[in-house]
Amino acid sequence: MNFNLPVLAPSILAADFTNLESQINAALKGGANWIHCDIMDGHFVPNISFGPNIVKQVSKVAPDAFIDTHLMIENPDEYIDVFVEAGSEMITVHYEACTHLHRTIQKIKSHGIMAGVAINPATSIHNIEPVMEYADMVLIMSVNPGYGGQSFIESSYARLQELADIRELGGYGFLIQVDGGVNLKNISQVAEAGADILVAGNTVFSAKDVTARVKELQEKLSS
Ligand code: DX5
Ligand code: ZN
Repeated sequence: MNFNLPVLAPSILAADFTNLESQINAALKGGANWIHCDIMDGHFVPNISFGPNIVKQVSKVAPDAFIDTHLMIENPDEYIDVFVEAGSEMITVHYEACTHLHRTIQKIKSHGIMAGVAINPATSIHNIEPVMEYADMVLIMSVNPGYGGQSFIESSYARLQELADIRELGGYGFLIQVDGGVNLKNISQVAEAGADILVAGNTVFSAKDVTARVKELQEKLSS
């Protein structure tokens, strides 16, 4: 799949679920073509969000959008099939939740979809070097996962830069995603630090005019 980078990926975690269809349509109208689905199990992270049924509804409402599923759950291997079935086009798992990370990546890719690997803010990037050649995307968490609306951790800029340098030196092909605390003020700097895919939840869906907000964020990304 070809993307015009950098990409804005609105996270529906912050959307109004009583109006999910219109919230998604508003984001798509603003030019978003990725939808980020945050799955939380109350074990790997302290919060519980939603499951494959919602992802299925999202893919039905937005058939042309790229469905980016972020699993913040324990035992992700057990849920890959249902999230693929629900329409996920990429599944990202946490390094911290996988005992056999190669195997998990292989399982995701065996479905013909993209595989991402996420690391928490306190995890060294070097821990995932052995899988960099297999990952389609590496996600640098810029907050501790579990909740939307948290502040961007400043050391994430250096981590994005470090990962971009490792990618260049190693000749790897993975995309770099950042997730957590991206807002109107920092989005340009976050992209400059090396992020290809920028997730934004509250910044998008707390806006009165979601379409205008997506346009505003994307303008900042393209300037
Ligand atoms: C955090 C989630 C994020 C979150 C982003 O655990 O993975 O995707 O929804 O939300 P904001 O942009 O509000 O920090
Ligand atoms: Zn996320």
